[in-house]
Amino acid sequence: MTNVVIFGAPGSGKGTQSEMIIKKYGFKHFSTGDILRKQIAAETELGKIAKTFIDRGQLVTDELIINMISKELDSTKGVSGIIFDGFPRTYAQAEALKKLLNKKGTDVTVMLNIQVDDDELIKRLLERGKVSGRSDDNLETITKRIQTYYKQTAPVIDFYKKEKTAVDIKGVGTIDGIFCSIAEAIDAKMTE
Ligand code: AP5
Ligand code: MG
Repeated sequence: MTNVVIFGAPGSGKGTQSEMIIKKYGFKHFSTGDILRKQIAAETELGKIAKTFIDRGQLVTDELIINMISKELDSTKGVSGIIFDGFPRTYAQAEALKKLLNKKGTDVTVMLNIQVDDDELIKRLLERGKVSGRSDDNLETITKRIQTYYKQTAPVIDFYKKEKTAVDIKGVGTIDGIFCSIAEAIDAKMTE
């Protein structure tokens, strides 16, 4: 079983590159952001709570997110791999993911740390905001999301450096070019 953590700031291309990974490897995609947006659209209790955080560019609580992922992991029998997109986003989530995977006799295979400078992130998200309909794609919330990333999420890089699964990926350039580096990193870690 191959477990890929696709990691990076808001707008770094996690969703875009996940689609490319799915096409080549056929892995299952877990995007915590997408799951939460579905819950919001369905107006569930979780969705209502999540919306208050998402609209302010803050993280939803670890407890809610870890429960959600734990449930999703129950439905992975027979899959050859999983892409975790937007999760883990805190040190506590990284520790929880390790425990959940270890219980299944597996672990994170590779953590792809996609690096993009802030000006490019803001440019991409403002552009996407014109058509995405995402309530968090406006300058105020984008700025807050990037701050939240540096404060709470970037420390997760150290967790995976210690685990020796982190690989830095230059996230500026063509989507295909970036995917080449990603596929190289996945292939290398899969055969380690
Ligand atoms: P989430 O949905 O994960 O959003 P995000 O991390 O802010 O990232 P995005 O989805 O905006 O960007 P992306 O990296 O996927 O980039 P994309 O490929 O779309 O989370 C949303 C919120 O949910 C969080 O703020 C939080 O509140 C909550 N949440 C989610 N997970 C959580 C967790 N684990 N714990 C707590 N709270 C959680 O690309 C962006 C744009 O750039 C697109 O328009 C794309 O076409 C374009 N693009 C992509 N690649 C390139 C390229 N190479 N060159 C030029 N343009 C490009
Ligand atoms: Mg995304």
